[in-house]
Amino acid sequence: MEALTTSWCSPSNIALVKYWGKFPGQLPANPSISFTLKESVTFFDVTAKIKNHDADKNLSIDFFFEGATSTKFQEKIEKFLLSVLDRFPWLVKYHLTLNSKNTFPHSSGIASSASSMSALCLCLLSLDEKIQAKELAHDSFFQQASNLSRLASGSASRSVYAPIVSWGELSGVLASDNEHAALIDLKSINPIFTNFCDSIIIVDAGTKSVSSRAGHKLMENHPFKDERFKRARLNCQKILQAMKEGDLKSFIEIVEEEALMLHALMMTSEPSYILLKPNSLLVIEKLREFRQKTNIPVCFTIDAGPNIHVLYPEKYKMEVKDWLHIEFVNFAIIHDEIGSGPIQLKE
Ligand code: PMV
Repeated sequence: MEALTTSWCSPSNIALVKYWGKFPGQLPANPSISFTLKESVTFFDVTAKIKNHDADKNLSIDFFFEGATSTKFQEKIEKFLLSVLDRFPWLVKYHLTLNSKNTFPHSSGIASSASSMSALCLCLLSLDEKIQAKELAHDSFFQQASNLSRLASGSASRSVYAPIVSWGELSGVLASDNEHAALIDLKSINPIFTNFCDSIIIVDAGTKSVSSRAGHKLMENHPFKDERFKRARLNCQKILQAMKEGDLKSFIEIVEEEALMLHALMMTSEPSYILLKPNSLLVIEKLREFRQKTNIPVCFTIDAGPNIHVLYPEKYKMEVKDWLHIEFVNFAIIHDEIGSGPIQLKE
């Protein structure tokens, strides 16, 4: 029998209101909202070849990251595939060869788990369609892909949609659910927010000392957890209102509050830890000075690491890029912007 192949390209995303803390079943402790990126993507392909030994009930996979084997990633993927065996029992009947490559460097402050895990899940669902010889309706396909991606990495659930996405129950946004992400209706968003840019200043390219997994875990007994989850819910409502009204000032206040609160939560966890570097603060200070001086509505956000995402509307691209390259001449900078979501590649 011929091998079955499928391949997807899926983007990373940057959270404006952060997901930080979860309940069993990879359900978020609060809703989050993100921009889906354009240039920072993972290309993933999966080839499934039926095994000769039907009696073999174990998973059999070969995983290559950027052309080379990677024990760490292979183990992560095997663990995930084992956890979804009930959903895809055919996984043990095939030998799978998986190839993945990113357009952005590792440890760049761009969430590679969001793009890679969503790309893998899109491939799995496409293969499932082929093996079962049935096609899901478009909306159902993407909702299932988001649901599956969530199980692999929470923030990956949002990468399946674009350009502006929510994940987690959110009053007033009917489609928003804890089990899968949902598109924010662009009719309720001022166009200035639909083509934002994200320039990422690489403050430190080293691997972070505390994983997101450990960070989420520390939220379980965090002294400020109730207040945080309440505040994040409020910030989701406030940012949607600001985006509806084209209110850049409130948008900036909420986005920066969310970034700083995420890191404040890390610093006040038990045990406490700090992922920001002195240069992260330097960049923030310079950015605020630039905004004050020029009135250009530029702001920052930060994921679980030291690198700074600089967010601004597309119409200020020239001025902001010029400033970034002069002010941060000694740092690597990755320029990205809002994109249009995953695409299935030709087979
Ligand atoms: O999806 P995870 O488990 O890697 O967690 C992501 C957490 C943040 O990136 C810090 C915030 C977010 O909402 O993306």
